[in-house]
Amino acid sequence: MFIAAAVSFYLLLMLHCPAPSSATEKSPCDTCTKLVDRFHKGLEDTSKKNFGGGNTAWEEKTLSKYETSEIRLVEIIENLCDSSDFECNVMVEEHEEQIEKWWFKMRKKYPDLRKWFCIETIEVCCPSGTYGPDCVACLGGAERPCHGNGFCSGDGTRLGDGSCRCKAEYTGPFCLECADGYFSTGRNDTHSFCSGNSTIYFTLHGTICFYCFIIIHLFLPTKYSLKRYVHIAYYFKSQNKFGLK
Ligand SMILES: *[C@@H]1O[C@H](CO)[C@@H](O)[C@H](O)[C@H]1NC(C)=O
Repeated sequence: MFIAAAVSFYLLLMLHCPAPSSATEKSPCDTCTKLVDRFHKGLEDTSKKNFGGGNTAWEEKTLSKYETSEIRLVEIIENLCDSSDFECNVMVEEHEEQIEKWWFKMRKKYPDLRKWFCIETIEVCCPSGTYGPDCVACLGGAERPCHGNGFCSGDGTRLGDGSCRCKAEYTGPFCLECADGYFSTGRNDTHSFCSGNSTIYFTLHGTICFYCFIIIHLFLPTKYSLKRYVHIAYYFKSQNKFGLK
């Protein structure tokens, strides 16, 4: 009875957590990016290959051939994955032909292996600022996803839904609104700045507001929060009231 309850509780948990964070950490795009990093390391390591001795014509010919040779590629591929890294080994096995194709045919035209392999060929990554199966721009645009105030779900991968997870100061679907306890220090259609520190706010605007709180206090009931007072001070400032610049 107890075991059955425990098992069904566990199953319920599993159902409610379809994508645990450990799974997103090992997305195919991460695997591919790591693989490309290892490829570059392999290129570096094998470029140091030294056949020793003087540079005879024969050696120079052999060395320059080695640079683009299958031997070098095999050496690099052998070290692409740790033997314990299952996802990496599967990826290399499945796509070894494409890596070879790049090495022998595409390298000159597409020097960026990650872009050619991970984004365009096996399609596990997207250009940064885009997400999902078709690499659609994140909310707020690919240049500044979430208006620079948050993280776009699936950014740079073929996963996610492009929604924004805002930094603490921001809220709303586009991360343009200020979260509770923070107030706006500037905003237009594309940029929004929120701060939780009134001193920073007034210093930013070149005004240390000493009297405004007292003045506002005279006109308003005390139930208003500090955030509200600052908003009102900001309004007075914009109306050039009370000498606030
Ligand atoms: C919005 O504000 C930012 C930062 O202050 C500025 O760089 C940008 O040009 C502004 N955009 C518009 C449309 O005014």
